[in-house]
Amino acid sequence: MILTLAVAKLTREPSEMSRISLNSKHIVLTGGTSGIGYEIIRQLNSNNRLSVIARASTRLDALKAEFPKLRVYEADLGNLEAVKRAADEIVQSGDAIDILINNAAVQHTPLFLDEDFRLETIEREIDINLTAPAILIYLTLPALLASKRATVLNINSGLALVPKTSSAVYCAAKGGLNILSQSLANQFEYSTVRVVQAFLPLVDTEMTKGRGTGKISAAHAATKVLQGLETGAETINIGKVKLLRLMMRLSPSLARKIMRKG
Ligand SMILES: NC(=O)c1ccc[n+]([C@@H]2O[C@H](COP(=O)([O-])OP(=O)(O)OC[C@H]3O[C@@H](n4cnc5c(N)ncnc54)[C@H](OP(=O)(O)O)[C@@H]3O)[C@@H](O)[C@H]2O)c1
Repeated sequence: MILTLAVAKLTREPSEMSRISLNSKHIVLTGGTSGIGYEIIRQLNSNNRLSVIARASTRLDALKAEFPKLRVYEADLGNLEAVKRAADEIVQSGDAIDILINNAAVQHTPLFLDEDFRLETIEREIDINLTAPAILIYLTLPALLASKRATVLNINSGLALVPKTSSAVYCAAKGGLNILSQSLANQFEYSTVRVVQAFLPLVDTEMTKGRGTGKISAAHAATKVLQGLETGAETINIGKVKLLRLMMRLSPSLARKIMRKG
């Protein structure tokens, strides 16, 4: 009997175990003033309790005015002390976190060889895109573990899998986020916390303004992310990322060649 249960535990479909209903959840999200994060808030706000960690700005004021129920924790994610304070405040509120969505990120496109490359962007991009998510996951663990079943959702990119030529630090930080997510998924395997990643293709947001073609809308990207979350998938591949993964298996060199032009 015990052996049967053990085998059943090992062989059961993760998606069956981990389907999530996006109702009555406490969801903490970084960013949210624009793009995919904003669309996630728009789609989840009426049925869930949302907290956002975002930096002070007129856009944040507009977000609060549009969604008065939002709980807002102000922090510039490039300021790691502010990130720690926001995480502590959330934990001290005593409210369990059901879903933590690490969404906010920045991308600087200049090449290292370009005149307009700025040294200070290296540290800031890594802090916002990789260090802040790691700190938030670690410091909010008490609140995540207080939920019956919690999910950490890291918003990632196809560029974490194969880099393009520009935005080297962004690609590296997203690659780091991918490895961090996989390693933490291992660490939390026997806990009530799951780590999920959504890999997005090019999305039409401020991040990609004025560049790229064949972009999907932010609303569509958010819908796909949330549908993936609901199915319980550990890895949510959206749109052309599915093709990229196939190409990486069939011809890694072709995948690199195509992506480097991106
Ligand atoms: N767009 C794409 O093609 C694409 C593709 C793959 C993955 N992604 C990922 O999708 C996620 C969302 O990006 P997006 O495309 O929606 O970009 P976006 O429209 O530029 O939104 C970025 C969000 O991050 C916030 N943010 C930036 N710097 C911050 C800081 N220092 N402190 C706090 N918040 C900060 C912004 O808030 P402010 O109002 O404070 O600036 C904004 O809400 C990111 O993780 C990105 O890497 C995007």
